[in-house]
Amino acid sequence: MPFLSETLARVKPSPTIAVTNMAADLKAAGKDVIGLGAGEPDFDTPQNIKDAAKAAIDAGKTKYTAVDGIPELKKAICAKFKRDNGLDYEPAQVTVGTGGKQVLYNALMATLNPGDEVIIPAPYWVSYPDMVLLAGGTPVAVEATLENNFKLTADQLEAAITPKTKWFIFNSPSNPTGAGYTWDELKALTDVLMRHPHVWVMSDDMYEHLVYDDFKFCTPAEVEPGLYDRTLTCNGVSKAYAMTGWRIGYAAGPKEVIKAIGKIQSQSTSNPCTISQWAAVEALNGTQDYIPVNNEMFKRRRDLVLDMLNAAQGITCPKPEGAFYVYPSIAGCIGKTSPAGVKIDNDETFAKALLEERGVAVVFGAAFGLSPNFRVSYATSDENLKEACTRIQDFCASLT
Ligand SMILES: Cc1ncc(COP(=O)(O)O)c(C=O)c1O
Repeated sequence: MPFLSETLARVKPSPTIAVTNMAADLKAAGKDVIGLGAGEPDFDTPQNIKDAAKAAIDAGKTKYTAVDGIPELKKAICAKFKRDNGLDYEPAQVTVGTGGKQVLYNALMATLNPGDEVIIPAPYWVSYPDMVLLAGGTPVAVEATLENNFKLTADQLEAAITPKTKWFIFNSPSNPTGAGYTWDELKALTDVLMRHPHVWVMSDDMYEHLVYDDFKFCTPAEVEPGLYDRTLTCNGVSKAYAMTGWRIGYAAGPKEVIKAIGKIQSQSTSNPCTISQWAAVEALNGTQDYIPVNNEMFKRRRDLVLDMLNAAQGITCPKPEGAFYVYPSIAGCIGKTSPAGVKIDNDETFAKALLEERGVAVVFGAAFGLSPNFRVSYATSDENLKEACTRIQDFCASLT
């Protein structure tokens, strides 16, 4: 009898973490490697948030809390939803977990039965399909095209819905493409969902605050109030507040689902870190002034990377509205051969050859469910970005 569970055989380890580890190993071996794989801001958590955490420690706020979050944080989350999204939630409709990842995972664990389908627009955040598989459901990936700026159309959503569909996972701005849906684009999708009352919406708004130019963020329950009773609106402090290591995420939705998520949490991890919860209260209630400042920097980096990548032979990349990723197509490089003799037959061989021959670490598109592409995270210094994009240009030019 095998020792490891059959559940484990259904999932694969995170390819983004694998790329980060591979780049770290090469660096440790003395190779000059620039990592464009990391999904986190390259700046430090703001001082007011750190101070709140220190004050929490000094005040002895170091014990267990309510499983799904302290009342002060739930109150801050309700205020945030009202302020930013015009959504009314009460604390009993809110759950707090150890990162956005745990909240999404627990929500799937709490709701999926074998045979339940979950529609996931591709390219997608790597964890969605595997989380669905772990929870016993069936992921249904629907490919958005580069021509449509990696956004799903209403017709595509309509065609993917079956009587078995339980959730539609929506992520805007998106990891890995940065694509953000406008109000009208999202309304076209919510109109479809209004015709299928058995389908619930899991909106992953993790990159809500990272938007550029005049783009206005919107979320499904805001765009279509008729979906409020079957929408779980998920968010967290990791990206906007540079708090990836603090591990706080949250969601709001119908009480029945929120209670079910808490039940799973109560028998697995219990409450998210107490000190981090107090830090998150300050993140949400304190000054938000640094967000537009950071966004100016991210926007500049996005434009720099886009210009340089679009100038590389064989690469095309649409301009995304948010997050800190771009998702260039390498269709023009397929079939060529690298100087070391590697035949570039897909995005995985491209990314591997780029890392080994030029020392640039990117994540190949197959990991996100849409090829032939790769993901660049531009959450790193201008110098790193310029050097990395120059190397990518040189690499593409060297393909024959
Ligand atoms: C789209 C998306 N959702 C959720 C998460 C999870 O965030 P957290 O670090 O809060 O678990 C990430 C992190 O990379 C993400 O990209």
